[in-house]
Amino acid sequence: MRQIKIKSSLYDYSVQFVDDVKKQIEQLGNEGKVTYVIDQNVYRLYPDYFSTIEKDNIYFVDAVEHKKNIETCMDLITFWQSIKLKKNWKVICFGGGITQDITTFASNIYLRNVEWYFFPTTLLAMSDSCIGGKCGINMGELKNQLGVFYPPRRIYICEKFLQTLSNADYINGWGEILKFSLTEKEEFYEAVENEKQLIPCPHINDYLYEGLLVKKKIIEEDEFEGDLRRILNYGHTFGHALEAYSHNTIPHGKGVIWGIDVANFISANMGILDHDIYMKIKELIKKSFIKEEIIVEDTTRFMKILSTDKKVKNNTVYLILLKELSQLIIKPVEIDKKLEDLFKRYLEETHGYYCD
Ligand SMILES: NC(=O)c1ccc[n+]([C@@H]2O[C@H](COP(=O)([O-])OP(=O)(O)OC[C@H]3O[C@@H](n4cnc5c(N)ncnc54)[C@H](O)[C@@H]3O)[C@@H](O)[C@H]2O)c1
Ligand SMILES: [Zn+2]
Repeated sequence: MRQIKIKSSLYDYSVQFVDDVKKQIEQLGNEGKVTYVIDQNVYRLYPDYFSTIEKDNIYFVDAVEHKKNIETCMDLITFWQSIKLKKNWKVICFGGGITQDITTFASNIYLRNVEWYFFPTTLLAMSDSCIGGKCGINMGELKNQLGVFYPPRRIYICEKFLQTLSNADYINGWGEILKFSLTEKEEFYEAVENEKQLIPCPHINDYLYEGLLVKKKIIEEDEFEGDLRRILNYGHTFGHALEAYSHNTIPHGKGVIWGIDVANFISANMGILDHDIYMKIKELIKKSFIKEEIIVEDTTRFMKILSTDKKVKNNTVYLILLKELSQLIIKPVEIDKKLEDLFKRYLEETHGYYCD
C-alpha cells in the first residue's frame, strides 16, 4: 500500500492509498468509539460502503457553498453534544472540500479539539486540500473568512469514489495536479502530457501520489503560509479573479488551468519563459481541459477584481510565473495599465484557440 508521511508542528500524519473503504471503516471502528460526518450525496451513491454504520451516528452534510458557514459547524457540534461525543472518540469524515472544511473547523474547536480522519471523495480534495490542514468557513457572501490549521490524523484515498464525479469536479482536481506537475519535476509534467486520457484517468493514483509529494515538501517547509507556500498559488491569481468575474459560473479547476495559461503568456512576454514551452502547455490544456472560449469582455472590471485579491498588497500582485518546466518564480508586478494591456493581448491572441 502506498503511503505518504507528513510532518507537522501539531503532529505527524499520513496519507494512505486504499482499495477497500469498508475494511478501513471497520478497522477504525474497532479501535474505539467513532462518529461520522458524511456528504449526503456520497452516502447515497455508495450505500454499500456505509451499510454497517448506524444512521443516527452520522451527521449528513449538504455540500453547497452557501452552507459552508458557522451555523452548519454549530449544528454539527450540537449533534456531537447530543450523542455525547468525548475527547477520546474519532470523527470520520467522507466528502469533498466543503465537508472537509466544516469538519476541520468543528473538530478543532469542540472540546478544544477531537481527532478526525478523512476519506476525500472529490479529486480536488484528494489532490490538494486533504493535506496541509487548512480550512475556510464563509461569512455570508465572503468566502473563507474563518479558519484554522488542523489536519486529519490519517487520510485514506480511494480512487473508486471518482467514478461518480462530474466532469467539472474532475477538472477541479486536475487544476491542482497540473500545477504540481509544473512545480518540481520535469518528468511529472511529461508524464501528464503523454497520458492518453486524463478524464477519467486510468493512472490517477500515480498522479495523486506525485502531486501530494510536491505539496508535502512545500507545506513541511512552510506550514503556516509564509512565502514558500505562495508557489501553490500558481494559476490561482487569474483563476480566482475569473471565478469571481464569472460570478462563480466558471468552476475553480477551469479557472486555475486558464490562470496557468495566462501566467505562462505573461511569463513568455516578459522574456522569462520560452515561447515554445508556453505553447506546449497550451496544447495540453486545449487537448484535455478547455474546449470553449473563455470570454472576458470587461477587462477593467476584471483588473479591479484582481486588485482586491487577499494576496495583493499595495496594488502589487505576486505573480507565480513559470521559468522552465518545473521551475516557478515569484514576481511582484504592479497592477497597472501595462498589466491590463498585456492581459488584453493574451485575450486577443487566444481568441478562437480553445473553441476550434
Ligand atoms: N481546505 C482547503 O485547503 C481547501 C482547498 C481548496 C478548496 N477548498 C474548499 O473546498 C470546497 C470545494 O470542494 P470540492 O470541490 O472538493 O467539492 P465539494 O465538497 O464542494 O463537493 C462538490 C460536489 O460534489 C459532490 N460529491 C462529493 N464527492 C462525490 C463523489 N465521489 N461523487 C459524486 N459527487 C460527489 C458533493 O456532494 C457536491 O455536490 C470549496 O468550498 C473550497 O473553498 C478548501
Ligand atoms: Zn486551487
